Amino acid sequence: MTTIKIALLGFGTVAQGTFNLLQDNAELIKNRTGVNVEISKIYVRNPEKYSHITLPKTAHYVTNIDDVLQDENIQMVVELMGGTTFAKECVEGALKAKKNVVTANKDLLAESGPYLLELASKNGVDLRFEASVLGGIPIIRTLYESLAGNRITELIGIMNGTTNFILTKMSEEGLSYQDVLKEAQDLGYAEADPTADVEGLDAARKLAILASISFNRRIFFEDVTVEGITSIDTEDIKFGKEFGYNIKLLGIAKETSQGLSLNVYPAFIPTTHPLASVRGSYNAIYVKGNGIDDVMLYGRGAGSLPTGSSVVSDIMEVAKNVSYNETGRLKPFYYDQKDIYSPGK
Ligand code: HSE
Repeated sequence: MTTIKIALLGFGTVAQGTFNLLQDNAELIKNRTGVNVEISKIYVRNPEKYSHITLPKTAHYVTNIDDVLQDENIQMVVELMGGTTFAKECVEGALKAKKNVVTANKDLLAESGPYLLELASKNGVDLRFEASVLGGIPIIRTLYESLAGNRITELIGIMNGTTNFILTKMSEEGLSYQDVLKEAQDLGYAEADPTADVEGLDAARKLAILASISFNRRIFFEDVTVEGITSIDTEDIKFGKEFGYNIKLLGIAKETSQGLSLNVYPAFIPTTHPLASVRGSYNAIYVKGNGIDDVMLYGRGAGSLPTGSSVVSDIMEVAKNVSYNETGRLKPFYYDQKDIYSPGK
């Protein structure tokens, strides 16, 4: 069986979720890909910080990124550090060294996605980013694979968990914006500096990435008109409810006769719309296409294991491609399936 050595860059929340799933689901991953995915190196600044975590025998920490980029045995780099400066250098370096890259880095994709995808293509390697948008919700591959036969006409999403949590609490418990923001921070949904969440910037970055895929265009964060939720008060919410509406921070990308419109803003939506019932820190995305009519995906837009699940699915896709390139054999979809367990047989 082919073994593929990978390196993780960063070992924070999402990287640990990825690490745990790779360990816990190792057999299943092997069966579904026909490949043995082996963590070889983990790049961190300070390995001491992670001394409580037991690494598999195959893996060790490195503190110099060149130990990853110059290691010819590493075929896949999984960037989970975040940020757009050093992370960009690492992703560029890995692609130029003809290593496949998986990343969860929304900010990097929103800023430099088209450039990095082109760089990957020039170097004949893959750049995958399912986890960069809406955490555990499998929206990226749904758009560019499962819905690829559609002309997408509209995307509407609740793309930020912090603001959805705040608006839900304001609506259901009548609490003020300031009180709930504090609670969202205490629960770890909002960042210590929650500006990107509450001002709608986080949602705008996600919308830019999803709209690029859906509408086959280069769309950047700056192309999105943004308004956050900081001026919403409990009166607005009460008023909406009286007339059968909930307020949600929506990201909307839509084909219009004037071209593509891209907006993030707090909107009144009828309580009968499926997006109106998305509560708390959950995210959802509603897609309209000329074949499917409409599809909605709903789930956890952040968190260690949900986001790790998306990262691992990308790692598996890349692993299958690497194995195909090496062996010339495609992995059958139903591989190593056990017989259905029938009690009494
Ligand atoms: N702060 C983000 C949110 C995390 O609240 O949705 C996931 O991008």
